[in-house]
Amino acid sequence: RDLPATPLWGYSGLSPGPTIDTMRGEPLLIDWVNALPTQHFLPIDHNLHGAERSQPEVRVVTHVHGARVPAASDGYPEDGYAPGHSALYHYPSAQDAATLWYHDHAMGITRLNIYAGLFGTFIVRDAEEQALGLPSGDFDLPLILCDRLIAKDGQLYYPVSDDPSAPWVTECHGNAVLCNGKLYPYLDVEPRRYRLRLINVANTSFFDLSLSHEVPFKQIGSDQGLLPVPLTRSRIELYPAERADVVVDFSDMAGQSVQLHHRSEAIMEFRVHDHERRDTSALPATLRSIKRIDPASAVRDRVLTLGELDDANGNAMAMLLGGKRWSDPVTEDPRQNSIETWSFVNLTGDAHPIHLHLVRFQVIDRRPFDLFAWNADRTLKFTGPAQLPPPHEAGWKDTVRADPGMVTRIAMHFEGEPGRYVWHCHFLEHEDNDMMRPYQLL
Ligand code: C2O
Ligand code: CU
Ligand code: CU
Repeated sequence: RDLPATPLWGYSGLSPGPTIDTMRGEPLLIDWVNALPTQHFLPIDHNLHGAERSQPEVRVVTHVHGARVPAASDGYPEDGYAPGHSALYHYPSAQDAATLWYHDHAMGITRLNIYAGLFGTFIVRDAEEQALGLPSGDFDLPLILCDRLIAKDGQLYYPVSDDPSAPWVTECHGNAVLCNGKLYPYLDVEPRRYRLRLINVANTSFFDLSLSHEVPFKQIGSDQGLLPVPLTRSRIELYPAERADVVVDFSDMAGQSVQLHHRSEAIMEFRVHDHERRDTSALPATLRSIKRIDPASAVRDRVLTLGELDDANGNAMAMLLGGKRWSDPVTEDPRQNSIETWSFVNLTGDAHPIHLHLVRFQVIDRRPFDLFAWNADRTLKFTGPAQLPPPHEAGWKDTVRADPGMVTRIAMHFEGEPGRYVWHCHFLEHEDNDMMRPYQLL
């Protein structure tokens, strides 16, 4: 109780920032004003450049994750600007209803800016979804989840590398999980259906979510909106930047407390009231039809490695995409309106959440391959059958978990305005350290 307040950064004084709620076809202008101090309150690793760690100068640029926007309003990392400056961005809202989120994307310090609190929910609604009668209004809530390291004095702590041979911290895992910015909050709920929009905004941690009392999730959507049918799930795993839209029915739980768990840890509580009010919401058996992209219609398949053996560095694993650094010339140059498939060949020992700006995609399959054959002469030798995505990954996605030892294939239609966008690993420590590449929509 007598701990000092924890400084955080936010949008309009809030972290998470205010929920931006839009309707398809109603474009929006937002002026993002940088009113932050000039120096960061969190440290950055500078060992890489031989300098001591220090607090970097502040720059920001806001990206709406999952939004189809012109390049000039997409929040290109190098468009970051200093305090006292602003950027007027245009959001067309010309896309299907989905739970998106906005966050900082400034070059090299995204991990610190988001960790400090620069994120919020961005909802797109449409008439087709509204006609389904899903829980709405007070019964439709975003739940933004992240983990943070909180020191004994209550302050936010960002880890730094003490090891000169490891110039940056490759992951950041917290000692506390925050829901909508709070530690173990509770919510008073009625004994009825709720729609919860689960969003993982953590730097590197994934969440393994379940409800107490064996209350199931009915998953109705993923990153880019509704699934074809609701799926009954006892657990939901979310990698950084992934979303799951769920309906939870508390109607049999009157007078009880239901906890949301990450693994075995309770991270928030729903206190279900006794009183009866008529629940007029619906959970239809079918939600939205999704036309599968035929991979055979792709004009191009790009084979892109995740991680690369670095001979100059005693064969250590460098966290690169397609063997390239951020500053290397653009290699991914899809044509506007073309269909492509991208195959992510994961050479590392971990899964990476891979995200593309501008477009939504479908997961085609994941297939195990022979790492030794690849390392010997870059031949892709599969060692088992292709695995189709599970039903909860069969909708539209914008972030996909690329598993180690697997080739993960996605298909997308490059709709949108030509220009310079990015694709990257959404582990923020990786993204800030060259696991991000520009792409050019021609
Ligand atoms: Cu969540 Cu490049 O974005
Ligand atoms: Cu994005
Ligand atoms: Cu990564």
